[in-house]
Amino acid sequence: MNATRKALAAGLAALSLLAVSACGSDSESGSTDEVEVFTWWAEGSEKAGLDALVKVFDDQNPDLKFVNGAVAGGAGSDAKNVLQSRLQNGEPPATFQAHAGAELTDYINAGQIEDLTDLYEEKGWNERFPEGLLERLKQDGGIYSVPSNIHRANVLWANPAVLEKAGIDAGKTYDSLDAWIADLKKIKAEGIIPLSIATDWTQVHLLESVLLADLGAEAYNGLWDGTTDWSGSEVEAALAKYSTLLSLTNTDRQGLDWPDATQLVIDGQAAFNVMGDWAEAAFQEQKKTLGTDYTATPVPGTDGVFDFLADSFTKPVDGPNPAGTEAWLETIASDEGQVAFNKAKGSIPASTTADTADFNEYQQTAIKSWGEDEIVSSLAHGAATSVNWLTDITAAVAKFGSNNDVAELQEGLVEAAEDNKPE
Ligand code: GAL
Repeated sequence: MNATRKALAAGLAALSLLAVSACGSDSESGSTDEVEVFTWWAEGSEKAGLDALVKVFDDQNPDLKFVNGAVAGGAGSDAKNVLQSRLQNGEPPATFQAHAGAELTDYINAGQIEDLTDLYEEKGWNERFPEGLLERLKQDGGIYSVPSNIHRANVLWANPAVLEKAGIDAGKTYDSLDAWIADLKKIKAEGIIPLSIATDWTQVHLLESVLLADLGAEAYNGLWDGTTDWSGSEVEAALAKYSTLLSLTNTDRQGLDWPDATQLVIDGQAAFNVMGDWAEAAFQEQKKTLGTDYTATPVPGTDGVFDFLADSFTKPVDGPNPAGTEAWLETIASDEGQVAFNKAKGSIPASTTADTADFNEYQQTAIKSWGEDEIVSSLAHGAATSVNWLTDITAAVAKFGSNNDVAELQEGLVEAAEDNKPE
């Protein structure tokens, strides 16, 4: 994180502390009816997803009052810092969003969230979620959060009209990055943005997709468990492709977040965007039709692999309203909550009991892939690494965005792995 963003995050942290203390002493006594839910779903289609969930919560809990503790910034780019300050200052919200996988274990290791084993048993939740997902919420026999959704990270969004304009068959799919890069160059020659992108974390998202496409699932997994060498020639080759791809993006990326980059495709100013399937919610919100106004396919070279992440909700230690927290977690686990939220969010239910029959066409493809594909863990969205490792990778990627030095990027990634890789 650069100095400006750090200052901003610190400012936001201070503001949200003020907001919490302004809620009054009720929350300290534990008798409050307020349930503060901390997420980064603050705007646009993400807020619409949260709103759908809140509606279910309100219906299920007429005596409780949802309080929106959201901090804007895609992928939690600012929210995670604000949250950390609050947790360290002993001002936790009633519940907060955390990614299943390595990110969750950070909060577990720091003793910041409670073991929900009893709640899972009491409510029968162990039978309601897939075993592989539950494993990513567990540590030392405890289970620490309730998953709200499954997102797919490796999706390529395209505007068919723009492709046709550049003389490219809009129905075409690519089985490798090289084939795709060749077309991106043709698009650039037409004066159109080939690939839209935004601020640092979206560049990490692109890098993750490139590593997955170029190394393949097994070697990609090896990056996180130490069996793939970050300093090797395979990674070097993938980084060269990343560099080429970045040279085919819009240059004003730093001021943008993911909705802006996706919007460039929606508006026909860019041909492609690589983004998780929360982008589906943005296309839907603007009444776009899959297959006509846009297409959604696996990132070239990643067909048959589902780059996975899941949001989940926690019960912070010494939270302000434990009963309110449990009520929110019940909404998250309920079929009503899973269906309402995921329909609006572009994701698919984490629970196996939610009825997905009337989920949209894109979501049906995600449901199918989730059931059939090889599952790997997303880097940019907390499934693969700790928050600290991701922060170090993001710093190396951000630096590359300004100096375009592939060797330095690789060194930065090697160092990040050395400093953070689990024992
Ligand atoms: C992810 C999160 C998604 C979506 C996305 C963009 O990290 O899991 O739910 O919000 O960030 O902000």
